[in-house]
Amino acid sequence: MNTVSSVQHLRDAVAQARRAGQRIALVPTMGNLHAGHVSLIEQARRSADFIVASIFVNPLQFGANEDLDSYPRTLAEDQDKLAAAGCNLLFTPTVSEMYPNGMHGQTRVLVPGVSEGLCGASRPGHFEGVATVVCKLFNMVQPDLAVFGEKDYQQLAVIRSMVRDLNLPIEIQGAPIVRAADGLALSSRNGYLDAAQRAAAPALYRSLQQLAERLRAGETEHAALIAEAQRAQQAAGFRPDYLEIREAFSLRPATPADRSLVLLTAAHLGSTRLIDNLSVTL
Ligand code: PAF
Repeated sequence: MNTVSSVQHLRDAVAQARRAGQRIALVPTMGNLHAGHVSLIEQARRSADFIVASIFVNPLQFGANEDLDSYPRTLAEDQDKLAAAGCNLLFTPTVSEMYPNGMHGQTRVLVPGVSEGLCGASRPGHFEGVATVVCKLFNMVQPDLAVFGEKDYQQLAVIRSMVRDLNLPIEIQGAPIVRAADGLALSSRNGYLDAAQRAAAPALYRSLQQLAERLRAGETEHAALIAEAQRAQQAAGFRPDYLEIREAFSLRPATPADRSLVLLTAAHLGSTRLIDNLSVTL
C-alpha cells in the first residue's frame, strides 16, 4: 500500500489504476481505525479493484469546543490495518493541502433538510464541514463508489443527498454498524471512556433495543416511549442529547403510520459524546 499526501500524487496513482481498467472505491476516514473501518475496506473490496482510503482529521467539521486537538492520531497503526485489509492507496493530506486558501476562503457545500436537527442541531456547521470535505475528496479521487459506516446515519443521508443534488456519478454504499460483544457501537471516541464509563456505555444501544421492542409490540405513543428510553440512558449515567424516531429514508419525524423507522440517539458520558442508531421495520 502506498501513502501519498499531495493531491497531485493522489491523482497520478488513481489515474494509473484507472488506465489499467480498475474500478475505484474511496473510503474516507479520520483515522484511529478500528474493526468498523476495516469492515468498510472489506466491503469496498467486494465491489472494486483499487481501494483508496483517506485519513484526514477535518477541522471544518469540528465546533470550537469540540475535540479537534485531542482527536486520536495513530497513523502508523492505521497504515498497518489498512494494508492488512487490502487497501491499495492511502491519502493523508495536511490541512494546507486540503484547504490551501485557509478554511475561511474555502467554498462550502450546504445540504439542506437532512443536515438539520439531530446532530445538525447539536453541532452547528458540522455537516457543512463533512459535505465540503467529502465533496473535495470525491473530486480529487473521482471514485466509482464510496463506502461510509451506517453508525453515522445522518452523515450517510447527507452524503447521499449531496451526491443526488450535485449529480455526482458515484455509488454510495452504507456499511452495517460493527459492535463490541456487549453491543457498544465501535467508535474512535470510545477510547476517551474510562473503565467505569466503558462498562456503562452499552446502555445506549440497550435503550434503542428496548424502544424498538415497544414499537414492534405496536406501541405508538412516540413521545412517551422516547422519554422512557432517555430515563434509561440517564439511569446508566448518560446525559441525553437527543433521541428521535425518524422515517428511515427521508429522516423526517416518523408518524405512527410509518413502517420503516430509524431510532437515532446521541448522549454524553462524562465529556464523551456517543451516537448510535437502530433501524426498525414494522
Ligand atoms: O465519518 C468520518 O470519519 C468523517 O466524518 C468523514 C466522512 C471522513 C469526513 O471527514
